[in-house]
Amino acid sequence: MSLMLGVNVDHVATLRQARGENFPDPVMAARLCARAGADLVVCHLRHDRRHIQDSDVLRLKKESGLPVHLEMACTEEMLRIALKIRPDSVCLVPEAPGEKTTQGGLDLSGRNAARIKAAVTRLKKAGIEVSIFADADPDSLRACKKVGADIVELCTKAYAEAPTRKLQDAELEKLSIAAVMLREMDLRIHAGHGIDYNNVGPIARMSGMECLNIGFSIIAKGVFEGLGSAVSEMKGLM
Ligand code: PXP
Repeated sequence: MSLMLGVNVDHVATLRQARGENFPDPVMAARLCARAGADLVVCHLRHDRRHIQDSDVLRLKKESGLPVHLEMACTEEMLRIALKIRPDSVCLVPEAPGEKTTQGGLDLSGRNAARIKAAVTRLKKAGIEVSIFADADPDSLRACKKVGADIVELCTKAYAEAPTRKLQDAELEKLSIAAVMLREMDLRIHAGHGIDYNNVGPIARMSGMECLNIGFSIIAKGVFEGLGSAVSEMKGLM
């Protein structure tokens, strides 16, 4: 099994929305990602629609040439959209108003579990694979199995943001133990959040890892890799 890369194109849409234009287009970005070897296109349709729009999800499905992995909150509104557009897979994530980005794994405790289980059942019935964004703690991982998820996306935020090498190693250890647990429970393993060019290695080498979902670092690097030629082209036209 070769490790897959899901590229999150949210921040292409962030730039478009900042200017209120119809470019840069996340669908064009996804096609470029496909040509460069990406295996999935990932997007997060947020309640506030601050970057990806409903029409982007539909166009990504029809025109990107990649399987679409939709990140979304577990709300009735998002479930209806997913059931209508039918992305290839959905990742259920927590979403808090005003947050800059997702803050951690989904809370599957108490009453939440029944609500999430019902959503997972509806999505799977429609032929959509379901992933749950989860912290690397045993209770959350067991709850993912109980609610019927196909995949668990391990949250790598704490690993990526660890301020010292020692703390990063400790977070890596937690993720490795979580991966062992997921394999034992026969759940597929993804990981994401804050993965960049410096910290990807140990996560990529983790046994059983199926897919890494990466957005910000790739889009940020893409801006700088392309800026030189964009300036040269403009200077040439002048
Ligand atoms: N996976 C999930 C579930 C996310 O919420 C995000 C952020 O949208 C990512 C992966 C990608 O994180 P980043 O943009 O930091 O690479």
